[in-house]
Formats: sequence, structure tokens, C-alpha cells
Amino acid sequence: MILSVKTGSFGYDIILAQNALQKAGALLNLARKVLIVTDDGVPPVYAETVASFCASPTLVTLPQGEDSKSIAAWQGLLETMLQKGFTRSDCVVAVGGGVMGDLAGFAAASFMRGIDFYNIPTTVLSQVDSSVGGKTAVNLNGIKNSVGAFYPPRKVIIDPALLATLPPRQVANGLAEAVKMALTCDRALFSLFEEREHGADWLSCVIEGALRIKKSVVEADEKEAGLRKVLNFGHTLGHGIESATGFSSLLHGECVALGMLPMCSPAVRARLMPVLERLGLPTSVSFDKQKALAAIAHDKKALADGVTVILSEEVGSFIMKKVPIAFLEEKLDYYC
Ligand SMILES: NC(=O)c1ccc[n+]([C@@H]2O[C@H](COP(=O)([O-])OP(=O)(O)OC[C@H]3O[C@@H](n4cnc5c(N)ncnc54)[C@H](O)[C@@H]3O)[C@@H](O)[C@H]2O)c1
Repeated sequence: MILSVKTGSFGYDIILAQNALQKAGALLNLARKVLIVTDDGVPPVYAETVASFCASPTLVTLPQGEDSKSIAAWQGLLETMLQKGFTRSDCVVAVGGGVMGDLAGFAAASFMRGIDFYNIPTTVLSQVDSSVGGKTAVNLNGIKNSVGAFYPPRKVIIDPALLATLPPRQVANGLAEAVKMALTCDRALFSLFEEREHGADWLSCVIEGALRIKKSVVEADEKEAGLRKVLNFGHTLGHGIESATGFSSLLHGECVALGMLPMCSPAVRARLMPVLERLGLPTSVSFDKQKALAAIAHDKKALADGVTVILSEEVGSFIMKKVPIAFLEEKLDYYC
């Protein structure tokens, strides 16, 4: 299946198909210098398969984990391209999760003022969320995504078969983002999560449903001026929990799952809770409330003006509202 993303400033195709990686040679223009960026947690055969289709591949394997989304790693990729004589006609391919996609995308955005970028996401999170929408970034001084660019890929290849090697906790982590999209935007997709049996093509159907939502949201609001904020559902409190628990014990999607619960009406929460439990996502947590609050109210502007949050009163729709910090402080009591 091909989903075409079209916004004011860019357009590109998402190819969603089982075993699509095997067709990368036909789907992408690899008859040039190609920098393939992967990490050492991704099965090497995925990047090697891409390399086998390239006229002149350079394969870079970085350490897995968020630390690779750094200025040093970004500089390393640029230096490699310079050393190998890359020009503006050459390209970068990310083969990995959101960390590799964000990093490689930003390297492509900045090398020679921008060269072609292809994304082949290999985690659920990157297949349903981060590979679409054109956000690329690295972290600086411990601040996530503080340096980056809106830089759309030329094409995205989504092959659900690549998820067979992904640990179950990482699968659930990514599905939290899909639950978020379903709960706020698509009642039918949420029902898929409520189904008792998850058949063979269940995951592909969820990925497709989530991609359709992400596509329509970024098409309507490319640069997060309004509607795109709906994708932050669960993220405000989730970010507070992530900070208060030291960014180590819980994965991002797990914090998003926790962050959604207090922002729902009791009726919606009663449906969300069993969905999260069945996926193996956490529904309770203990953390230092003041630390979480400090992370949420990270700047004076938030304290003075309040924070825009997303609330769910009914499955399949959302309310966007500016609230004072005191509102969020009260919501944090939910976990006590
Ligand atoms: N650009 C965006 O719009 C956007 C949106 C959401 C999140 N993000 C970013 O995405 C990042 C998180 O992405 P993620 O959750 O994919 O994490 P990740 O990229 O760190 O991948 C998670 C782990 O899975 C391993 N892995 C990847 N594919 C695998 C496979 N097929 N089989 C086995 N192991 C595999 C990786 O080596 C890594 O250890 C964060 O940096 C976040 O800021 C970006």
C-alpha cells in the first residue's frame, strides 16, 4: 500500500508492505553514493540488505540508544560523507528506530544544505510515528531534540516483517503511541485494540491506522502550529514522569501510557486501562511529584501563560485546552 503525504512544502510516499525491505532496490534511487545509518541493536542484515542494492554504499553502525542522538554522532556522519566525497546528488538512508531516523535525517538535512533522505524504520514507534512528519533532531546538553530541522524524507519504507526481531517491551512501547492516536482521533482503530484476539495481520492493521492519522495530522499542520499538538496527548504528564524517573527505568511510550490516564474522563479511562494492561504497558507508577512538576513547568512562560494540553472525554475525539500549572499539579495526584 502507498500512502502519499502532501503538505504545503513537501510531499512523499510511505510504502507499507510485508517484506518491502527486499524491494528497496526498486523503490529507492540507490544508484549513487549512499550513507546507510544503523545501530548495533538492529539486526545487521537489514542494513546489509539495503547496502546490497547500492552502487556505492557506506555503512555506519552506531551504538544503540538515545546517546547516539548527539552532536558528536551527527558530526561523525557529516565527516564520513565529506571523506567519501558525497555531493548534493547523493543520499542518506536510516535503518533503525526513531533514534537513527532523527539523527540520520538531521545529517541529511544539514549536509550541503540538504541531500535526499530515505527512512526505513525498524521499531513500532518509528513505523507508526517518528518516520512520518519530517521532524529530525539531535539532543544538546541533555535537552531532547534541541537542535534539528523539519526535513521530510524522500520516501519511507515500512516493512512490518522487520518487527519480528523487536523485543516485546519495545513493541508495546511503540503501540502506546498508536493507542494515543486511536483514542484521540479514530474510534474504529481504538476498537482494534479492544479486540480479544489479535490475528496475524493485527499489527499491520494498527500500523496502517496509525499512519493514516499521523498523515492527516501533519498534512493539516506541518510545523505544529495547532492541530499537530494532538499528538502530544499523554506527553505532558508523561514527560514529567520521564524526567522524575531519570529517563532510565521507563521507556518513552510507557510514560506516554501513564500520562494519558489522568487526562481522560472516567468512562474513557475505564476503556483505556484494560487496553494498556493487555499490551503490557504500565498503569501505575511512583515518582517524585515535585520533580515531575518542575520538568512540566520548565520555563517561566509555562508558569505565567499555562500549558496547552489534550484531554479525552470521548473515545475518538479530543479537547485542546490551555490550563494553568495548578491543573497539572492536581492531575499528578492521580498516581498517589
Ligand atoms: N521525529 C519524530 O517525529 C519523533 C517522534 C517520536 C519519537 N521520536 C524519537 O524517537 C526516538 C525513540 O525511537 P525508538 O523508540 O524507535 O527507539 P530506538 O531507536 O532507540 O530503538 C529502540 C531499540 O530497539 C532496537 N531495535 C531497533 N529496531 C530493531 C529491530 N527490528 N529488532 C530488534 N531491535 C531493534 C534499537 O537498537 C534500540 O536498542 C527518540 O529519540 C524520540 O525522541 C521522534
